[in-house]
Amino acid sequence: MRTYLVTGGAGFIGSNYIHYMFRKYGDAIRIINVDKLTYAGNLENLKDVEDYPNYTFIRADICDAETISRIFEENDIERVVHFAAESHVDRSIKNPDVFVKTNVLGTLTMLNAAKAAWELPDGSFKPDHKFLHVSTDEVYGSLEEEGEYFYETTPYDPHSPYSASKASSDFMVKAYMDTYKFPANITNCSNNYGPYQVPEKLIPLMINNALNGKSLPVYGDGKNVRDWLYVEDHCKGIDMVQEKGRLFETYNIGGHNEKQNIEIIHIILDTLREKLPDSDPRKAHITEDLITYVTDRKGHDRRYAIAPDKIKAEVGWYPETMFAEGIKKTIEWYFDHEDWMKNVTSGDYQKYYEEMYKS
Ligand code: NAD
Ligand code: TYD
Repeated sequence: MRTYLVTGGAGFIGSNYIHYMFRKYGDAIRIINVDKLTYAGNLENLKDVEDYPNYTFIRADICDAETISRIFEENDIERVVHFAAESHVDRSIKNPDVFVKTNVLGTLTMLNAAKAAWELPDGSFKPDHKFLHVSTDEVYGSLEEEGEYFYETTPYDPHSPYSASKASSDFMVKAYMDTYKFPANITNCSNNYGPYQVPEKLIPLMINNALNGKSLPVYGDGKNVRDWLYVEDHCKGIDMVQEKGRLFETYNIGGHNEKQNIEIIHIILDTLREKLPDSDPRKAHITEDLITYVTDRKGHDRRYAIAPDKIKAEVGWYPETMFAEGIKKTIEWYFDHEDWMKNVTSGDYQKYYEEMYKS
């Protein structure tokens, strides 16, 4: 039985990844999920796996070197999949410090613990032990021209404190690969959407606001472009890179699903109207009148777009879920999980929302 250490597994992508891996490998794997449970971590996301004998949750901070090292000492961990991070650009603009702590220093702690556990006396590493660092396309900066794409060779040019911290963590992983031949890969993925995403990010925020008759805050002119990938496709890509990719390589993962923010909002409104029965009182207020243009995000990147040519050629991965299908599945999931949304948006979320969107 192969043992995985997943960091940040109680967050959006991490919890989808844990579900994906148990669906795919069942009893053939064991997963240890290490998560600090910040505002973004939610054990409700993992309710259906929490009793599995091959699943363990440990509440810990990835910056806590002693605890992380102990987890490596007590378990023969063969795979690390490192998701844990502060992930929201708007929060990074307000409070960059925690982004450096978790994303940069936390990644360094993970690297040091894995290196100490896996390094052999001759400086080589235990065979078939691998670390995958989950990163973002935002490290490449912003594209202006249509037809331009981010490749693995595109120079890093991060703008936000979030993307700068992720770029720093990527460089640290690269330094360990280059210096020690530490067995790792980096994946840089485009914007994800799907179940379990906290409604501080564009898609779940717009779904939740529309359902509650609240205004839909569009930053700037609404024409910024993101390349949207259904989260399960990302999870599959991570697993394929770790099992079939070449060690020490970076792979871009992207959807070829470029859309302007305002297009996304229209699609969400159309889909909500299509899915809600006429008898549902919420249907009446789900109109374009909710769209409200607000002050632009500081340093707002204009366009992200991934060329996933390398991962397709070397690993055989491609995005399987087209946006039209993925957004329907996502909206259905939010319809079926109203309690999840209620719990996530109670308490601190209200405070965050009022502070963030005060006019
Ligand atoms: P998220 O914010 O939903 O979840 C992050 C998780 O990490 C939470 O469970 C949180 O509790 C945990 N965490 C935060 N700080 C921690 C710490 N110090 N110690 C231990 N756990 C901690 O994030 P997400 O959207 O699931 O993103 C996961 C990873 O994927 C991140 O590294 C992010 O940079 C990357 N990524 C995200 C996207 C996207 O669109 N969401 C796209 C590309 C890459
Ligand atoms: P977001 O989901 O925060 O992801 P990222 O900034 O990491 O790409 O934002 C996606 C896009 O949506 C981005 O261009 C900013 C925009 N946006 C809004 O227009 N309004 C909002 O309330 C939010 C949260 C985002």
